[in-house]
Amino acid sequence: MNHHSSSPNSNCKKCCGSKESQREQVAHYYSTVLSSNRDLKSSACCIGQQPGAHKAICSQLPDEILEKFYGCGSPIPPALKDAVVLDLGCGTGRDVYICSALVGPRGRVVGLDMLESSLQVARKYQNMLAKQFVPELEGSSNVEFLCGYMEQLEEAGVKPESCDVVISNCVINLVSNKELVFRQVYHTLKRGGEFYFSDIYSDRRIKEEARKDPLLLGECLGGALYLQDFQNIVESIGFLDPRMVTCTKVEHSLPDQVESKVRNVTFYSCTFRMFRLDGLLERKREDYGEEAMYLGTLEECPDVFELDVDYRFPKGTSVAVDQNTANILRYSRYAPYFYCYRMVVYRKGLVNMLQKSLKEFKDAVRQEKIKEDFSKSEYHVTKGEKIRANRLQAQYARKATKTWNMINTLLERQSRGF
Ligand SMILES: C[S@@+](CC[C@H](N)C(=O)[O-])C[C@H]1O[C@@H](n2cnc3c(N)ncnc32)[C@H](O)[C@@H]1O
Repeated sequence: MNHHSSSPNSNCKKCCGSKESQREQVAHYYSTVLSSNRDLKSSACCIGQQPGAHKAICSQLPDEILEKFYGCGSPIPPALKDAVVLDLGCGTGRDVYICSALVGPRGRVVGLDMLESSLQVARKYQNMLAKQFVPELEGSSNVEFLCGYMEQLEEAGVKPESCDVVISNCVINLVSNKELVFRQVYHTLKRGGEFYFSDIYSDRRIKEEARKDPLLLGECLGGALYLQDFQNIVESIGFLDPRMVTCTKVEHSLPDQVESKVRNVTFYSCTFRMFRLDGLLERKREDYGEEAMYLGTLEECPDVFELDVDYRFPKGTSVAVDQNTANILRYSRYAPYFYCYRMVVYRKGLVNMLQKSLKEFKDAVRQEKIKEDFSKSEYHVTKGEKIRANRLQAQYARKATKTWNMINTLLERQSRGF
């Protein structure tokens, strides 16, 4: 891999071909045009709320790193302790260092960017921040920066199936071959691993003249993916049922002749999460009578776990979920923090009639003492927990079967006019 200070690697024609000029434009914008986030012309970069814990970590970062932060969200998921995290297009490393504090001394964070000049800034503070965030390592760091392209992760030194979490903050819009990036991410994740990322999207396809405009491209607008195209692309490579976590409209104040090229387009900064769950997800969400309960065992989410815009899980409360969601919570990196169980009655409409039995079942689950030493690395609950969940499910199954028989008898009588 050639390292490049402000122009992209010329060995890379294979994956990008004529699109090489797009890289040059992006490299020029981020190494020469912008010297800090005050130079930006839109809110596409630098929007997004940060959770309190992340703010506290940020307050310990050097100004130079914070001023050169060009992200559009806060793509840092919970449950990072001990994890291996990869940040694609890490720039000067703000998110890498937040993750460094969160993964702790047994975790590892790799930041990858194509611009050596940005990585130089990031590396300048590596020793100092290692002492601050992981003093247990006595001067060594849990962070590594790689110069390379996110379309070619193995060449850059990232092994397949090596990451628990991949993050990325306002970068994929800048790449011409987005499908290739999603494919690379999929293969880099361990099974059950998560891609959690913020980027700019549009409500329609962007015309070529806008896509080619250097200012729109650099400001992360020209290359924004149309939301429907995004869904089609990621599903075609195996990231089925992507989950939107946040979505904010982007404001911009561009020069008139540039603004006219995107006048009818609305841009959004969205954070999505997607999981590598080979063969366990469907394109469409289906109701199979699954229920899930958050155990409240994640330090950063003591009261509620928010999976996406549709699902929030208050601690200790049973929530009806579709089959995909159940499989995410049962088999992904979040499995140790959830109980999932399938109700035995599948017929739609009857679920409501079973509320009374369901309430008893929920109470039974709630009364169980919840063990907290789950085996995180294996992405599933311990054997004891499974046996307990199965026992509860069996108890419920007996109750539900009784109710089911009763309802069927009533329905049958009704149909016969009794
Ligand atoms: C909008 S900035 C965001 C930087 C960083 N994520 C942050 O939040 O500050 C986009 C970054 O992506 C990098 N980048 C763009 N295309 C890339 C590619 N194909 N491979 C690796 N890095 C790339 C740029 O060099 C730049 O640092």
